[in-house]
Amino acid sequence: MEDKEIILVDDSEDTLEILELFVESEYDQDIIKCSSGNEAIKYMSENKDKVGIVVSDYNMPDGMGSDLFQYIENEKLPIPFILLCGESVEHMASKPEFTPLKNRKTTTIISKPFKKDDLLKSIDENLSNAKSFFLDTGETPKQESAPIEHSRFNYSKMSINKFFKYSPEGVDVFIKLSNKKFVKIIESGDAKCSEVKDTIEKYARKGITHVFLLKEDYKKFMESISGTLSKMLEEIKDESKLVNAQVESVSTIHDALRELGVSQEVKEMTDKVYKSCLKVLKKSPNISLLLDKIMQNQNYIYELSMINSYLSVATAKETDWASENTYEKLALASIMLDLSLADEKHAKIMHLKDPQYELFTEEEQTLIKEHPYESVKLLDQVEQFSSDIKNIILEHHELPNGDGYPRKLGATKITPLSAIMIISQYFGNGILIDGKTPSNMQKLKAEIAENFSRANFKRPFAAFVKAFVKS
Ligand SMILES: [Fe+2]
Repeated sequence: MEDKEIILVDDSEDTLEILELFVESEYDQDIIKCSSGNEAIKYMSENKDKVGIVVSDYNMPDGMGSDLFQYIENEKLPIPFILLCGESVEHMASKPEFTPLKNRKTTTIISKPFKKDDLLKSIDENLSNAKSFFLDTGETPKQESAPIEHSRFNYSKMSINKFFKYSPEGVDVFIKLSNKKFVKIIESGDAKCSEVKDTIEKYARKGITHVFLLKEDYKKFMESISGTLSKMLEEIKDESKLVNAQVESVSTIHDALRELGVSQEVKEMTDKVYKSCLKVLKKSPNISLLLDKIMQNQNYIYELSMINSYLSVATAKETDWASENTYEKLALASIMLDLSLADEKHAKIMHLKDPQYELFTEEEQTLIKEHPYESVKLLDQVEQFSSDIKNIILEHHELPNGDGYPRKLGATKITPLSAIMIISQYFGNGILIDGKTPSNMQKLKAEIAENFSRANFKRPFAAFVKAFVKS
């Protein structure tokens, strides 16, 4: 079944394209696209033995998703079925045409909008459940299924740089050969530290940038890093080292949230980074010197997070309306703005008219366009992140002239809190890309004065200027 075709069904060509991009990023088997339920039924009636799984939209003019489901049911085909619908899962499951799905382990309803991982996980689960489904229903698959290999959901990804930095001991280490094939390159307890290092270096020389640990090992490892970093944030006195620990903590928070979801450690570490940032600002209000210290870390996403944090809080301090609560919102939002982006080349796209944006694939462009929404989604279960914080994240790529994304809000619709973040980010990105030279700083300040000083940006702009005059 693993090698059989994946059938995608949707009447919207754009949606079919996106589904195909999602699925082909993880699966090696052939993908068949059908633009209606009837087209899929026709294809399946002629190619029953070839089909491994069906992913279908519900509402289509020429044959609904329910028609397709009933065809599979009536024909007693041992084929997992995933239904994508605009309504709630409960509502859809209560429809009479879906009554048989209660007895099926190989049917899932997914409500739109959904995340790429939700769909991929569901495909994995359905394929894994397929065998027991056949046993439960007394049916026999027409062809014996290949053994299910580990999917990437069994593993957590770790950059080779991070692996070297923390050298986790006693863990199995894997590399990814293909979307569903992983090979163990280090057996826990089997190798000495130096051998582990040599082995990983050998793969790094071949261009491999990440290794994979089993989820359980990764979780333990992250807990240990969190503990070490939290202690550092509390105890380090040297300011440069402390700022480095803050940048490293942001990187760890992002990794942990993306790979494992929300945990107590992540919540605590986020709080500690914010408090540590406020402590540094109180002691050393010279923004320019702080920026120098942050910019030594050589990582765009996490440096930008900390630059935004310092600049936005320092700016808010110069307004007559911000409070401690405002500082906290800005600092926490800064840490999480680009949480859903792992690759700095995507995070560097400040607006969609950037010529670099056109060079990305359609999937990458979607990732960039959607990242404010995706970052907010990842934070949905964290109480600490209020609606104001989520709003700053949603608006961090909007622009006063209405050319920003994702919602093209203009200077009168963007909130003053978001305006502070947008100005800070414009400046932060500018110095990270072109350096913190006096001429570039002047140029950025002039651009900010010209483009970011009207309507809701007026007071944030004045405060930003004041924060810099102090430095
Ligand atoms: Fe961003």
